[in-house]
Amino acid sequence: MVSVAIMGHGVVGSGVAEILLTHKQKLFSSLGEEIYIKKVLDLREFPDSPIADRFTKDFEEIINDLEIRVVVEVMGGLNPAYTFVKRCLKAGKSVVTSNKELVAAHGAELLALAKEENVNFMFEASVGGGIPIIRPMNQCLVANNVREVAGILNGTTNFILTKMIEDGMQFEDALKLAQDLGFAERNPEADIEGHDACRKICILASLAYGKHVYPQSVHTEGITNITLEDVNFAEAFGYVIKLIGRVRKLDGGKIDIITAPMLVPFKSQLSNIDNEFNGIMVRGDCVGDVVFYGKGAGKLPTASAVVADIVDCCKHLKARRFLFWADGDGSNIIDYRDSVSAMYIRVSGDDAEVKAEKIFGEINTVADNGQLAIITSDMSYGEFESKCAALEGEGVKVLSAIRIGDI
Ligand code: HSE
Repeated sequence: MVSVAIMGHGVVGSGVAEILLTHKQKLFSSLGEEIYIKKVLDLREFPDSPIADRFTKDFEEIINDLEIRVVVEVMGGLNPAYTFVKRCLKAGKSVVTSNKELVAAHGAELLALAKEENVNFMFEASVGGGIPIIRPMNQCLVANNVREVAGILNGTTNFILTKMIEDGMQFEDALKLAQDLGFAERNPEADIEGHDACRKICILASLAYGKHVYPQSVHTEGITNITLEDVNFAEAFGYVIKLIGRVRKLDGGKIDIITAPMLVPFKSQLSNIDNEFNGIMVRGDCVGDVVFYGKGAGKLPTASAVVADIVDCCKHLKARRFLFWADGDGSNIIDYRDSVSAMYIRVSGDDAEVKAEKIFGEINTVADNGQLAIITSDMSYGEFESKCAALEGEGVKVLSAIRIGDI
């Protein structure tokens, strides 16, 4: 029998306890031992829980219990999760977390600590919820040089964009529906401003390229400026708008990483990933493109990934699973203004097409209702900004600008 503790009994934590209890026999046959929930840490009372007698409000009861070998952190947020996880690793306990904020902010330090203490620190559920992505990238795709990772990494924003695209809903109405259905947090800022997706692409970039990428090094744009006009023009050009986290390795070794809405071509595998689902494309030099699809959030999908990590930790109590990246200082990341892509812009003003052609060169256009939508050829973002300023100087107003995703 292996004793574990779960810190947090919210949506994910209660899902983890539920799976460990309802799938006891299934897990026993995989591990060859029982996984026993010895303690659950939460400040609230859960008198109706089948394990109500094992709840505690005191972290010290977990850290001081030598029988507890694996601790699951599903509290979310940075504090006290960061302090508790560090103390668990230092005490020689393996840690499993679903906390993307924690891994994006402190992953390199916690991985180094786990290595030092000869224990495991695992976080499969931190990206893509129930979708296997950390372990496949770390193990199954290890033969590849990863050229690019691009994903729809946030279910809330994907749900909102899908409602705008399929049902013609306005952004605000789609957000309200997402909140009513329980997808979006009551404070949805981290989702709609792109921070949640940014944390997740930082974790995948750190894993793919071996150096920690901190969220503050990554240019991040959310979806709050996307309008129905953009959605309709995108469709006329053969694209859908998706919030994409993307990292790619450039010739010369540096990485180009961004979180931003992109126009994704209909032919892309990512264009059909709708509603609250997530999808992640990994482009390897040997394997080509591999796409992972599934539920990126929710109680049991996320708990499914957490429980897989618990089983892996229990199987390797005396050995380390190789999962590691070094700290990073951002020097391997290019400035987002140097990143090259084609651009979509929506403009209004007299003779906009002629003026845009003079400034941008060859362009594709669609006109509707007094506005003009333009797709440019490839250029750096810095060059694009200068050209937009020149266009505005000619009296043409730039109403929106979105990158074209070559994914
Ligand atoms: N708020 C996140 C999402 C939850 O909408 O995808 C899962 O990380």
